[in-house]
Amino acid sequence: MIWCGLDIATEFSEALSSRLDTVSEAPIGSKPDIFFLCSQSTHALCLSFIDDCVGGIPESHILAIPDGEDAKNLTICETIYTWLQSNQAQRSSLLINIGGGALCDVGGFCASTYLRGIEFWNIPTTLLAMVDASVGGKTGINLGHYKNYIGTFTQATHIFITPHWLKTLPPAEILSGWAEVIKHGILSGGKAWSQVQQPIPNTNDHQAWLNILEWNIKIKSRIVKADFEEKGERKLLNLGHSIGHALESLSLDQGKPIPHGYAVAWGLVIETSLAIGSSPTKEETESLAESLKAIVKGLYTPISFTQNDVPALMNFIRADKKNNQNNLLFSLAFAPGNCHFNIAVSPEDVIQTLNRYVGQTD
Ligand SMILES: NC(=O)c1ccc[n+]([C@@H]2O[C@H](COP(=O)([O-])OP(=O)(O)OC[C@H]3O[C@@H](n4cnc5c(N)ncnc54)[C@H](O)[C@@H]3O)[C@@H](O)[C@H]2O)c1
Repeated sequence: MIWCGLDIATEFSEALSSRLDTVSEAPIGSKPDIFFLCSQSTHALCLSFIDDCVGGIPESHILAIPDGEDAKNLTICETIYTWLQSNQAQRSSLLINIGGGALCDVGGFCASTYLRGIEFWNIPTTLLAMVDASVGGKTGINLGHYKNYIGTFTQATHIFITPHWLKTLPPAEILSGWAEVIKHGILSGGKAWSQVQQPIPNTNDHQAWLNILEWNIKIKSRIVKADFEEKGERKLLNLGHSIGHALESLSLDQGKPIPHGYAVAWGLVIETSLAIGSSPTKEETESLAESLKAIVKGLYTPISFTQNDVPALMNFIRADKKNNQNNLLFSLAFAPGNCHFNIAVSPEDVIQTLNRYVGQTD
């Protein structure tokens, strides 16, 4: 169940009460089989609101893990498994993830593997997690600097999405999530594509955000429903991500990490430029590449890579999960609303396109 609205307090506490034995008078947060996972930021910024909704959560049932990518590894998974085990979490237990995409990814992964799987709910608190990471059932952690290399396909049974949390989100994180909104605009075309060319609304404008969240969730959910395990159409959601993930991994390797969405935004630009070579409607693709470059240049700080970085970027691109043994396979946009997956592209063309962008994102 995906709920998107403004009054999360009522919706969340009602859902929790109806899952629990409501006969007992104990506050719902203190029921022994509910566990709350948050990051250091969401512990400070969001947990007291949830705590009020449920009438008090015992300390032992709250775990705060590091923020962001620092949480997406096996060491943190062991911390989460051990916390669940030492508090007698059972198959019937529920894990509630409160945080950004990284938190939802690692929390979902641990829930889907602890005791071979327990139920989990997501409360996404970043824009990126609201429009993308919390929805669709992909859970995962990184393997070294290879992004999301270990994971499962497991749906959260409830997802509560509200623009309420956006007000504390730093502008850079709004921009990071906006890259996935741009991606959905390209996938959908029409009104959605027009909307992503408009200025980003102020975080106080809850109604504008509600509208944006709703159409984004609709697009993502429709594609996921058609192809849950990414055998076909779901690969479209990887638009911008083959090169985006490579840029993100390179930046992690070089010790200067960039937000996921910034990498995706530049990935969308570079991949659309790559798409021109295989497009049957070259003029439309060139026009999309131009518009996209203008949008991304106007919003995002540049990501610099040099010619010397291209071999490392190619190694990350070759390791992309979408490839098969012989081919580099991309999801590419030929025009807004005209996107395709499993497009084979030669390594030479990718190298040539990357070389064209050396210094160009500056
Ligand atoms: N599973 C999927 O389908 C999927 C899809 C897209 C991205 N992802 C993953 O999502 C991750 C990126 O997610 P993200 O962009 O949300 O980053 P993030 O999870 O790293 O969060 C960004 C920062 O914002 C903080 N934060 C969270 N909520 C806040 C709030 N309301 N106010 C202030 N600060 C807050 C976080 O603690 C963190 O420091 C990546 O690991 C990416 O691989 C997964």
